[in-house]
Amino acid sequence: MKKYFLLACLAAATLGSHAEKIALSTPNNTLVIDVWKGGEPTFVYYGAKLSMDEIKAMPAATNANWSHLQLYPAYGATHCESETAFAMRHYDGNLSTQLLVTDYKYENITDLAPNGATRHGNRIVITLQDPLYPDVAHLYYQSYDDVDMIECWTDFTNNEKGTVTLTQFYSTCMPIRRGNVHATHFTGTWAAEAQMVVDKLQGGTLVLKNKDGMRNAHTERNEIMFSLDGYPSETSGDVIGTSLLYSGNYRTTVETDASEYHYFFSGINPDNSEYHLGKGQTFTTPRVAYTFSNEGTSGASRNFHRWARKYQLRHGDKERDILLNSWEGVYFDINQQGMDQMMHDIASMGGELFVMDDGWFGDKYPRKTDNSSLGDWFVDRNKLPNGIEGLISDAKKNGVKFGIWIEPEMANTTSVLYEAHPDWIVKAPGREPVLGRGGTQVVLDLSNPQVQDFVFSVFDNLLTKYPEIAYIKWDCNAPIMNHGSQYLTMDNQSHLFIALHDGLLSVLKRIRAKYPDVIVQDCASGGGRVNYGLLPYFDEFWVSDDTDALQRIYMQWGTSYFYPAIAQASHISAAPNHQTGRVVSIKFRADVAMSGRLGMEIQPKNMTDEEKNICRQAINDYKRIRPIVQFGDQYRLHSPYEGDNLASLMYVAEQKDRAVFYWWKLETFVNQHLPRVKMQGLDPNRQYRISELNRIDNVALPFEGQSFSGHYLMTVGLEMPSGHNTSYSGQTDWASRVLLLEAQ
Ligand code: DGJ
Repeated sequence: MKKYFLLACLAAATLGSHAEKIALSTPNNTLVIDVWKGGEPTFVYYGAKLSMDEIKAMPAATNANWSHLQLYPAYGATHCESETAFAMRHYDGNLSTQLLVTDYKYENITDLAPNGATRHGNRIVITLQDPLYPDVAHLYYQSYDDVDMIECWTDFTNNEKGTVTLTQFYSTCMPIRRGNVHATHFTGTWAAEAQMVVDKLQGGTLVLKNKDGMRNAHTERNEIMFSLDGYPSETSGDVIGTSLLYSGNYRTTVETDASEYHYFFSGINPDNSEYHLGKGQTFTTPRVAYTFSNEGTSGASRNFHRWARKYQLRHGDKERDILLNSWEGVYFDINQQGMDQMMHDIASMGGELFVMDDGWFGDKYPRKTDNSSLGDWFVDRNKLPNGIEGLISDAKKNGVKFGIWIEPEMANTTSVLYEAHPDWIVKAPGREPVLGRGGTQVVLDLSNPQVQDFVFSVFDNLLTKYPEIAYIKWDCNAPIMNHGSQYLTMDNQSHLFIALHDGLLSVLKRIRAKYPDVIVQDCASGGGRVNYGLLPYFDEFWVSDDTDALQRIYMQWGTSYFYPAIAQASHISAAPNHQTGRVVSIKFRADVAMSGRLGMEIQPKNMTDEEKNICRQAINDYKRIRPIVQFGDQYRLHSPYEGDNLASLMYVAEQKDRAVFYWWKLETFVNQHLPRVKMQGLDPNRQYRISELNRIDNVALPFEGQSFSGHYLMTVGLEMPSGHNTSYSGQTDWASRVLLLEAQ
């Protein structure tokens, strides 16, 4: 730990009027900043780790070609024509701000990460002040001693005579040296999340943003990987990866002007969100996490995965159960006997957990479809005469754990809750509410502390009454459809989006303080809340409502850029698939699902015996590889976006003694020539024995049971037959392989 602190101590702690270099390092990354009293802090370097001597010798960042390297440019006093990190209206109406360094300090930090883990690192705190006003801002940069991640954020305290208004408040600004820089980012929609987009950065502005109010990850995601030296490669080249740790509306901007740099900004979206800060109050931005890797985009992803498992996700070090979720199996058609049957079926295939999805609640207004009952979290005794007690005892009888679905931030206008508390919903003042899903869904106003108590109680009542509940699926199926809070004053209506998010975080913190152990899934119409703002309170997320195995390869590929496999709920579902209608072989469906957190989303009683057998085998095999998939390092080997009908990736255990290799053929043509895939991440000097999992072929692969050196597997690779050797009637156009590698 001391090693990094020493590195940070390059600069003297007393600040003079000449530029002083300050640095922060992780095991393999270094950030260097220039500070001097009365000036703006400026960016010098972020990249591979440098020695103290190298940092000392490093020239100050150049301002050549109009480069402007200020780390937190404020609008108006000097920066007008380019994007700024911060803008405000002072108490006297002045729109100009200047944030100049008055001081800085290093701190050796041991604190609790948001998932409750203890973390060690160092922190630079730079204090900024406007010479005209008594306000104080701080820039924070915090490193980790054991993972390559630096987080940064900002706060601003109003010391003026009265309320001021913040109109722009990014968390960070990072100049990125021009060159052949490409930005890989992700776009999508419901049921088609995380589609990869690669933009070569040239002049102009790239803006990614979200204004949904509740779910910020269906459409454009805030994360970007910058490949600094050419078209992105999964395996080589310098990459900076960045993620905003926030679940509300965001704006991420990359502006490129005539200078030598691209300017990256990320933070809360200020659209319709100007923030009134009372005298003496402090506004703190969410954090942005940065990593650097010289092992290509896959290397930057591995840095994110390690940090996520250790410091972001709940229980990132605990194996996840294999589950059956009831949604695609029965939709709203819940009943006691049907649930019992599903529990029996998943147990018979080796599963460990059963989750009852939507449709179990509603008393006065039973939830038969999506047009009623949200808010009325009482068991529908017509569907479930023995209540949740009955389900829990069925689960015990069947030898599986029990989980349940809730959507606590919502109501339907057809509900007892809405009848009692019409003032608890988000709606524009003086107007009728806009209604969402089912024609009656509305969003509860979490800026209101009474609503926060209610949302907490939904979770708390279930877990207090039924402590046997092992898993909660927390859903969120509506955006903010009209702007307004019945709780916030008319002066502060612009606080709505930020206040809703703060309210949700405060509920989740209360829940985790009281229920640290229960497993909670983050679901929002699929992958609507895949972000590191919320994940510290959850164990995993539902990648997408689209369970089609082929489309999942693309979505899980994109999602894996920033999120580890342990968090990606990935379920075997029916054929034809309910979203795309595609008929995919059961082997292929299983082989895709078992590259994430394996589960099932299907009515087992409609499955054939052959399908059940293959799933039983897959579940059994997955138990053998679960620690490698869930805790290992991921190597993306061959992208489905290459356009040559193949995707391949692998996971390697930390000790490099075991690995699992996935190979999926994406389309079938006669006389097809698929590339041979080279493996990665193995120990070149060890011998690995190969065995195929989920095997359906009549004849074993030619290399079954044979051993190869890691060097051979990584420089030559294994030839995969492009189809399966099964009976003629068993042949389909799908082909996939899962290989287990065990060091001898
Ligand atoms: C949307 C979720 O993504 C689905 O998995 C399911 O839980 C439905 N909501 C239930 O309404």
